[in-house]
Amino acid sequence: MRNIEAPGSRRTIGLMSANTWADIPTILLSLVLPSGDGPMAAYEAEFAAVLGGGRAVSFSAGRVALAAILDAFSIGAGDEVIIPGYTCVAVPNPIIFSGARPVYADIQPDTLNLDPEDVARKITAATRAIVVQHTFGLPEPLEPFRKLADRHGLKIIEDCTHALGARYGGELVGTQGDAAFFSSEQTKIISTGAGGVAYSRDGETASRLVNFQARCIRPSVGQERRMLVYLAYLAALQGPVSSRWGDPIGYYLSRLGLMHGPVTTDEEMACRLPDVFYQRFSSGQARVALAQLRRFSRNLARRHAIAMEYVRILAPAGVRYFPPQDGCEANYVRWPLWVDDKAAFSRFMREHGVQVGVWFTAPVHPLGVPQINAGYEAGRCPAAESAVAQVANLPCHPRMSLGDAGYVARLVMAYHDQAGHKPAGQAPVNKGEPCGG
Ligand SMILES: Cc1ncc(COP(=O)(O)O)c(C=O)c1O
Repeated sequence: MRNIEAPGSRRTIGLMSANTWADIPTILLSLVLPSGDGPMAAYEAEFAAVLGGGRAVSFSAGRVALAAILDAFSIGAGDEVIIPGYTCVAVPNPIIFSGARPVYADIQPDTLNLDPEDVARKITAATRAIVVQHTFGLPEPLEPFRKLADRHGLKIIEDCTHALGARYGGELVGTQGDAAFFSSEQTKIISTGAGGVAYSRDGETASRLVNFQARCIRPSVGQERRMLVYLAYLAALQGPVSSRWGDPIGYYLSRLGLMHGPVTTDEEMACRLPDVFYQRFSSGQARVALAQLRRFSRNLARRHAIAMEYVRILAPAGVRYFPPQDGCEANYVRWPLWVDDKAAFSRFMREHGVQVGVWFTAPVHPLGVPQINAGYEAGRCPAAESAVAQVANLPCHPRMSLGDAGYVARLVMAYHDQAGHKPAGQAPVNKGEPCGG
């Protein structure tokens, strides 16, 4: 194995990333300022301005933003919504909760995004919408889906939870569909611990989103404070110092009931509606989100530079990665790559101080979700199932230096130097076998 020199005394290079020291003053201020709607309105206006107009409506999570969009389009009992068979349970759940049925279409093995041909095969008289997911911030051009949508009278909902700042044809993702939803969950491109935005340029859809928001419950002051403490913990202790110190401090803060991060509840894991689901965003989180939007272009530039460092070192070594499609710019929320053995790869990287992303661990992520509860039957989406087995993703975020990226890339090479690990695989699926309907 080649000799890898870690730059300095090495902390863990983790995946949670967007909360940095720069958030600390805003978090502290939010802990003492009273709650109110002002920061939410300012955040929504700024978010829409980033997207060049339209209306942004904030919620407690991206999944609630999707629920708002389904409601705005009057999608419910008897309807079907097509989604990728390579997604998070947070996507089928709001569809199931609305009374509609999620229908899974396969992905393209080289882009990890929806396969329009398979989507076309899944359309029935009950189909009302297609959720086009820009997976890992790799944009999916909408043209083929727009043709299908126009032909069958469907709505296009862009899942931009990974993809804020990514572009196709020069335009930001989220601006070309009928509506889009975004996430500011802790692993995403901007982080408020948990949070989501529903977005539309259509006036009527936007006013229905606002109406839905008005029907959602507000988080309590205690809930808001615990999330702010969690954000302070992420900013101060996850990333900048060794997890040897960060983890136990986090453990005791949680045990004492002083902090609380985002959770996917047991009910959600079983695809059942929890007692509390349809919630609004909090003003403290909105202040943090606003501060992050102000640093957004620096955040994107750093992610891009790290991804280019991975490409520079790993592409010549034959590592199979996922470049954006023609005319598209990724936001590099993560840097996905094909590996021969995801578990062995993650273990190797962790032993050397690097956390590797495992999105997605099942066609309906995470692994603990009974797939059938989410309406997914094994074998329906073979390309997605191959990606689940063999696509890992590397950290790519503003807390990393180019030196860190070089270290991570050299570790990937060292993994492949070990006997039996090949850097590139075959196209993972026989495209001649479409997944069933
Ligand atoms: C592809 C995808 N869509 C939607 C979501 C839901 O976002 P949120 O966690 O903000 O509800 C996630 C969550 O990670 C996701 O990975």
